[in-house]
Amino acid sequence: MEVKKAVIPAAGLGTRFLPVTKSVPKEILPIVDKPTIQYIIEEIVASGIEDILIITGRNKEIIINHFDQVPELEFNLKIKGKNAELKMVQDITDMANIFTVRQGEAKGLGHAVLCAKEFVGDEPFAVILGDDIVYNHDNPALKQMIRVFNEHQTSVLGVQTVPHEDVSKYGIVQGKELSDYVYSVEDLVEKPSIEDAPSDLAILGRYIITPDIFEILEHTGKGAGGEIQLTDGLRRLAKRQKMVAYDFAGRRYDVGDKLGFLEATVEYGLRTPGLETKFKEYLKNLDLS
Ligand code: UTP
Repeated sequence: MEVKKAVIPAAGLGTRFLPVTKSVPKEILPIVDKPTIQYIIEEIVASGIEDILIITGRNKEIIINHFDQVPELEFNLKIKGKNAELKMVQDITDMANIFTVRQGEAKGLGHAVLCAKEFVGDEPFAVILGDDIVYNHDNPALKQMIRVFNEHQTSVLGVQTVPHEDVSKYGIVQGKELSDYVYSVEDLVEKPSIEDAPSDLAILGRYIITPDIFEILEHTGKGAGGEIQLTDGLRRLAKRQKMVAYDFAGRRYDVGDKLGFLEATVEYGLRTPGLETKFKEYLKNLDLS
């Protein structure tokens, strides 16, 4: 089986980023000059997938508008001879086949993924969270995970090692190393205490999942935080069939978190051609006293 579809859950309330998320979805907040969700779609496309479903909710139309044509803008850029900008704008629309479905109420990530059932059908599919960016210029994180899927033909969780004192923020994998960077998943623990964490391998916003997850999610009740948790569904899936975790290479940012957003902004700023030298100089001389 091949992975041909990707799902981006983007219907969450974004309470960690209030007040801006009262009216602006966090997935559209820019890192330098590009909305977060565009980085994610570019990673999916660079990994060889063109059919993408965005799970949206109330106040999220702006996300979809970003991928529509804007004829008056394109006309204006054309008559002004701004060809680079015109291409940039057109490429956003042409990049992928984007579909949407609404999650009527933000009942949790597991519920959001369940909303993709009709779109996905009976195939393995990728899930990338709408507020989770990974920088790897040469080898996109999802592409690395697809390679692991092709080898093992079963669900793959994207993980990285986090500092032990941070394990309580994440879903943590219990497993054994099978080969370089690949682990068998024996169990999963959502936000364990530091004492109870079975490892420091945290699930970080990228998954390839077999379609068997849908039947499981249909019967998964509310878990931590009163939400239907994807981790609870994956835990049951791991009991039924083989599941692996892959420690992907890349710098990961949780841009739904204020510190993560600022780290991404600074580091992408320092990677932006034409901006990097002046921005570095600015940061070096920064003195708020
Ligand atoms: P988060 O765990 O960041 O939750 O969701 P959140 O509710 O959006 O944000 P906080 O914790 O209140 O600040 C991870 C991803 O899953 C989506 C979010 O939009 C985000 O991209 N999500 C979450 C949904 O699509 N639906 C949900 O019910 C919950």
